Amino acid sequence: MSIYIFRLFTLIVSAAAAVTAVTFAVPSAALTGGYQYAPLDPAPVGISFEFFAFPSYFTNVTATNQCLTNLQSLTGTWPPIRIGGTTQDRALYDAATSSYVVYTVASPADAPANLTFGSRFMALANTYKGSVVLGLNRGKNQISNTIAAAKVAVSEMTNLLAIELGNEPEYYPKDGQPIASGAWSPAIDAASQNNWDILVGSAVNKKSIIQAGNSNASPPEWGAAELIATENSTVKEYVKTYAHHNYPGGSVTSLMSHSNIATNLHVFDADVSAALGEGKPYVFGETNSVSGGGAAGVSPTFGAALWTLDYSLRATYSNISRTYFHHGTVGNCQYCFWGRYSMGAPYYGAYAATALLAKASYLTALDTGTTNYAAYVTFDANKAPLRTMLYNSDYYSGSGSRSNQSFVLTGLSGSSVRTKRLTAASALSRQDQGGVPKFGGQSFTDGTCVISGTETFETAVVSGGQATFTINASEALLVYLQ
Ligand SMILES: *[C@@H]1O[C@H](CO)[C@@H](O)[C@H](O)[C@H]1NC(C)=O
Ligand SMILES: *[C@@H]1O[C@H](CO)[C@@H](O)[C@H](O)[C@H]1NC(C)=O
Ligand SMILES: *[C@@H]1O[C@H](CO)[C@@H](O)[C@H](O)[C@H]1NC(C)=O
Ligand SMILES: *[C@@H]1O[C@H](CO)[C@@H](O)[C@H](O)[C@H]1NC(C)=O
Ligand SMILES: *[C@@H]1O[C@H](CO)[C@@H](O)[C@H](O)[C@H]1NC(C)=O
Ligand SMILES: *[C@@H]1O[C@H](CO)[C@@H](O)[C@H](O)[C@H]1NC(C)=O
Repeated sequence: MSIYIFRLFTLIVSAAAAVTAVTFAVPSAALTGGYQYAPLDPAPVGISFEFFAFPSYFTNVTATNQCLTNLQSLTGTWPPIRIGGTTQDRALYDAATSSYVVYTVASPADAPANLTFGSRFMALANTYKGSVVLGLNRGKNQISNTIAAAKVAVSEMTNLLAIELGNEPEYYPKDGQPIASGAWSPAIDAASQNNWDILVGSAVNKKSIIQAGNSNASPPEWGAAELIATENSTVKEYVKTYAHHNYPGGSVTSLMSHSNIATNLHVFDADVSAALGEGKPYVFGETNSVSGGGAAGVSPTFGAALWTLDYSLRATYSNISRTYFHHGTVGNCQYCFWGRYSMGAPYYGAYAATALLAKASYLTALDTGTTNYAAYVTFDANKAPLRTMLYNSDYYSGSGSRSNQSFVLTGLSGSSVRTKRLTAASALSRQDQGGVPKFGGQSFTDGTCVISGTETFETAVVSGGQATFTINASEALLVYLQ
């Protein structure tokens, strides 16, 4: 080819590369640059345990302690936990039992239709070094039993953050719960919650003790703004936090899509504002990829790990203070981060999100949530940039060639930055099927959750305050700015 055509060709190729790169300007300090900043909890990524399964996780699943410890090692704070779920509304307190929980099931894969629990349940919860939200029963409409349990929780648990009164009350009629045996609606539920908040809160003689809301249906119906509008000043004194549940569902591709994640979280904007307007935190009290324990083809995959990463960061950016990822029946839980025998890929997403947020005071997103490419920045207490997470949510199934995306960061200082890559063979990789993900070259061991492998950083050159990072489809990259 002639030198002219060659030059034209080179020009077109570099123009194409320049067009495809996405560029983000890292602000020199938090609260500047026209971005929105979320103030951070010490440990925004938490774990929810299904009520009846909690004692098993804590006494009979080896990985539990280590998986929680790994997160604590990053942040210096134990991840917050919540104990609750559908079986909290099937559980009654039994002062006479010396067992944690008493129930029978036809198969170990089943959740019990009803159960009892004793004071040892709360004593076990009190062995945890982090904060605990405890979900108690409202569905059975036995308030004196719930008050008896709440009194034990308050006296036994020095780590008690809040008590929930009922789980996903919109499903009470379908579940045949006695409290909804007459009419049931958001307004009737709100009146019931408000009444119970006052009765339980005053019985345990504690203000700011109730985690209110706890519905799963998409707001505004059954949401915090709607509930708050029904509360008078007496009720509000007893409320500590507002919580909602969220299971976006979908395929691996739709789940991990960054723009879908941002869109899904905007559903909660008005409720978050309403809670913050009361000076109270808004949390996802129970959440995970797909409801009902997860979907086999979706929830255990590396794509779901990438969802866990981006979703927990976008939720935090949206001022959702804590996100409690649900863990159901041991041995029958597609979305669980860990089980008795193997790790779930989603744990890697939670770990990488925590690595970005660790010891940070502020989080911002540099992208508008409308493309497949995300960029987050955390800042330390002095408002200096700490780390950046870059996410390429293009889907890679494992067949065909894997595309990549260039991310350019401007506003950097120094001559180089270190990075850690979150990767796997494809978005469909599952650790229980041999597709072990890696974060900074390291993995978590099946059965124990012990980190293995050599911690590996890549290095990118910073020139003129700018660096370019190549991220394959279905990968994320943590950039250390300090
Ligand atoms: C612990 O788990 C094993 C395996 O499922 C089960 O056989 C055993 O009964 C459990 N032990 C307790 C104390 O729950
Ligand atoms: C509790 O569950 C068991 C087993 O499913 C059932 O036989 C029993 O009738 C239930 N009891 C109540 C009070 O619902
Ligand atoms: C607030 O509402 C509750 C019922 O939910 C009622 O018992 C209480 O007296 C009310 N308090 C005030 C100050 O109006
Ligand atoms: C989150 O809350 C802070 C105030 O604490 C506010 O400045 C910011 O705009 C909020 N973020 C969003 C996304 O609304
Ligand atoms: C993905 O990215 C890494 C690091 O940039 C590279 O070494 C690797 O070859 C890429 N994988 C594919 C399948 O393109
Ligand atoms: C990124 O993709 C381009 C085009 O397919 C390829 O030439 C390049 O090697 C890839 N880079 C990495 C790091 O995988």
